[in-house]
Amino acid sequence: MNVKVSIVGLGKLGASMAAAIASRGFEVVGVDVNERAVDLLNAGHAPVKETNLEETIVANRERLRATTSHRDAILNSDITFVIVPTPSDDRGAFSLQYAAWAFREIGRALAEKKGYHNVVLTSTVLPGSTRYGLLPILERESAKECGKDFGLCYSPEFIALGSVIQDFLNPDFLLIGEFDNRCGSQLEACYKQIMTNNPPCQRMSIENAELTKIALNTFVTTKITFANMLMDLCERIPGGDIDVVTNALGLDRRIGKKYLKGALGYGGPCFPRDNVALSFIARALGSQAELAETTDRFNRTLPEKIIERLRPYIRRGMTVAVLGLAYKPFSHVVEESQGIYLAKALSKIGARVVAYDPLAGEMARAELKDKAVILDSLYECLKQADIVLITTPDPVFQALTAAHFDNGKPKVAVVDCWRILDKELAGCPNILYIPIGRSIDDETNAMRLTQLWNSNNLE
Ligand SMILES: NC(=O)c1ccc[n+]([C@@H]2O[C@H](COP(=O)([O-])OP(=O)(O)OC[C@H]3O[C@@H](n4cnc5c(N)ncnc54)[C@H](O)[C@@H]3O)[C@@H](O)[C@H]2O)c1
Repeated sequence: MNVKVSIVGLGKLGASMAAAIASRGFEVVGVDVNERAVDLLNAGHAPVKETNLEETIVANRERLRATTSHRDAILNSDITFVIVPTPSDDRGAFSLQYAAWAFREIGRALAEKKGYHNVVLTSTVLPGSTRYGLLPILERESAKECGKDFGLCYSPEFIALGSVIQDFLNPDFLLIGEFDNRCGSQLEACYKQIMTNNPPCQRMSIENAELTKIALNTFVTTKITFANMLMDLCERIPGGDIDVVTNALGLDRRIGKKYLKGALGYGGPCFPRDNVALSFIARALGSQAELAETTDRFNRTLPEKIIERLRPYIRRGMTVAVLGLAYKPFSHVVEESQGIYLAKALSKIGARVVAYDPLAGEMARAELKDKAVILDSLYECLKQADIVLITTPDPVFQALTAAHFDNGKPKVAVVDCWRILDKELAGCPNILYIPIGRSIDDETNAMRLTQLWNSNNLE
């Protein structure tokens, strides 16, 4: 018989995990301190916006319920996943404030529980947090002993917002940091029944797993940043083209094509804070994570670079249309979004900013306030624009044609950070097409190289 599962934290990740696990035949009880989230789930609604979440909840209601009582959840389950926020603190570390509160409640419930219970921390934390920060709370509150009365694992998920359910059920691998063999084996057996793709499982100490999670995210951001570094170089060589370079590079199996695309920087709720946190833990332990620090610093310079590219074309009062405000396509999340940074920076230098995003309009309005007019229509946005800035490769933007930019103004400049409209717009008489990541000016670039490699100096 399947173990019974409880999930503490029904947010962007936890709600999807609860529904996905229920969809695999498990009885699941979710806990949240937010009554609204609990009520919504119990009424068959998604507490957060996520692809297929509501449908999955509705289809599995007989096995899925929610409560505000940690006690109820712990006493009625065998294994508990804790997936509460771990926001960045002033030092750049991940705060354990919410997790500590959740562990205190779980510990109190464990005190009343007969039999073994497995506690799995899924929230992103830094090395040492689970064993040295949170385990003492569980042992103190339960007056029980880890390994004997209950188990403790650290097991993060590798998901992307917008495809959380799909990613959760089909991971590249399972990562289990275990206090001992008993709790690790129980979690692995449980995952093997939940996951649909029979993924390989990596079991290790809790601390190695904590480091692996943050290492994976920071590695991916380093790869993105590497492509962006090359992109800057491509703009300075005649005929330079970042896509030509990265497409070739990606064919090498040691490198691969994923996340190797020069464009804007990375954003969202996870990636930007992970390099900062890795730098923090390295410094705190007497090591140095200079690569992580540089990646973070470089990523934060990218919006300013785009503004510099735009500056020659902008006159005070001109209207710039920013297309894309979420941190990526198919998302309503605007946290650390490059589109938001750019809209703010453009407003600061005196442009009138209008903006559009297929999903993030509402969130962006709250974030940008009077700095931009968020329109509900892409075409209305284009109608007003002297300059168009495309910040995400959203399919809606990819489908635009030259005619959509024809708004009666003599010439509209289109700055295309992802080069998605190259075929459609390059060479159009009424459009000044500016693809980021390609040679800015072949003649000047050639002149610089001529000076650098002047053959007279070689002989
Ligand atoms: N969002 C992502 O893309 C993502 C990806 C990987 C990892 N993570 C990590 O997962 C964790 C959760 O992220 P999220 O985006 O789901 O957060 P979230 O803010 O969307 O949701 C967290 C939920 O936990 C609830 N909560 C807080 N304290 C609680 C407590 N003591 N008991 C019960 N519920 C409590 C909140 O009310 C909220 O509903 C974080 O550590 C995050 O870094 C997130």
